[in-house]
Amino acid sequence: MEVPASSPVDPPAVSPAARTSEAAPRSFRHALVTGGAGFVGSHLCTALLAEGCEVTCVDDFCTGRRQNVAHLASHPGFTLIEADICRPFDIAPGARPPDLVLNFASPASPADYLRSPLHTLHTGSSGTWQALQLAHRYGARLVHASTSEAYGDPQEHPQSERYWGHVNPVGPRSVYDEAKRYSEALATARARVDGTDVGIVRLFNTYGPRMRGYDGRAVPTFIRQALAGEPLTVTGDGRQTRSLAYVDDTVRGILAMARSELLGPVNIGNPTEITMQQLAELIIELTGSRSGLRFIERPGDDPAVRCPDITLARGKLQWEPQTGPEEGLARTIEWFRRHATG
Ligand SMILES: NC(=O)c1ccc[n+]([C@@H]2O[C@H](COP(=O)([O-])OP(=O)(O)OC[C@H]3O[C@@H](n4cnc5c(N)ncnc54)[C@H](O)[C@@H]3O)[C@@H](O)[C@H]2O)c1
Repeated sequence: MEVPASSPVDPPAVSPAARTSEAAPRSFRHALVTGGAGFVGSHLCTALLAEGCEVTCVDDFCTGRRQNVAHLASHPGFTLIEADICRPFDIAPGARPPDLVLNFASPASPADYLRSPLHTLHTGSSGTWQALQLAHRYGARLVHASTSEAYGDPQEHPQSERYWGHVNPVGPRSVYDEAKRYSEALATARARVDGTDVGIVRLFNTYGPRMRGYDGRAVPTFIRQALAGEPLTVTGDGRQTRSLAYVDDTVRGILAMARSELLGPVNIGNPTEITMQQLAELIIELTGSRSGLRFIERPGDDPAVRCPDITLARGKLQWEPQTGPEEGLARTIEWFRRHATG
């Protein structure tokens, strides 16, 4: 599809609130992370605290878990607020105003968003609206978590930010895909209309410790099944591809986006493609499991291919993934061995 010269990614748009080029590299003193008790959010909270940044985690626990942030509970810089971001929310009274908002609240696995379709749409729309209100009020930078699902079942491969996507607006996955597409439109409009300092990242499949064994995503499902000695349930003929980023790499990419002046969207993902059958076989090998494969029906509108073009992230954020699948999967398997997989 042709992209007009005014496309927000050609050249990559700078957030209207961008500072001058002489400014020192950005660092943040207080980050508010929505969805901070989820899989990716909990790793973001951990990384920010390790850098000396205070963190307020806002979560309604619809898919997140308290145990994901239990290791942070006694940290003096950490505050946990239980709230649904679809309603107005704020930092704790007397807290330092946030200078960074990471908007990561949203059910993300197909099993979760198909179970809560209206909450997913509400979070992507009203929740993103409230997060933008808060960022604007405090003059904070807001990095919004969008997704490769914005490309739908793509007809271009790999997917660059110039591609507008191929999404079924009334298909089963539309509650997530269209919520994210709307939230991108909303964040971009907010940046243009009132100069809110926004950055949009399109995350591709990310995996790692703290995923839930029953969240329906391929990596935790296969690891749980392999460790239990059950057959690994591969959908379709197993030839559909995904590209999987280890969570530490994704977190580095998100924080690089936070420190930049970019509006985006910018793809953050690992361009190494793997078929679902190869992934299942690799997990069997790494776990030393005796499990076999069982092929099951493929869900509706399941994308056939998925691979990010990360030229923009490499060039503008000096970011690229560093963790190969064997290393990242081995660390994830080790975590699953030590923790309950529910
Ligand atoms: N993990 C991935 O591969 C991936 C890929 C693309 C995009 N993303 C995006 O990254 C973000 C985090 O994904 P994840 O994999 O960590 O999912 P997750 O389900 O583990 O985390 C989402 C968190 O958001 C919370 N939440 C949901 N709705 C909320 C609301 N209305 N108010 C407050 N909290 C709410 C949940 O309780 C949970 O803690 C999501 O926005 C998702 O769309 C993730």
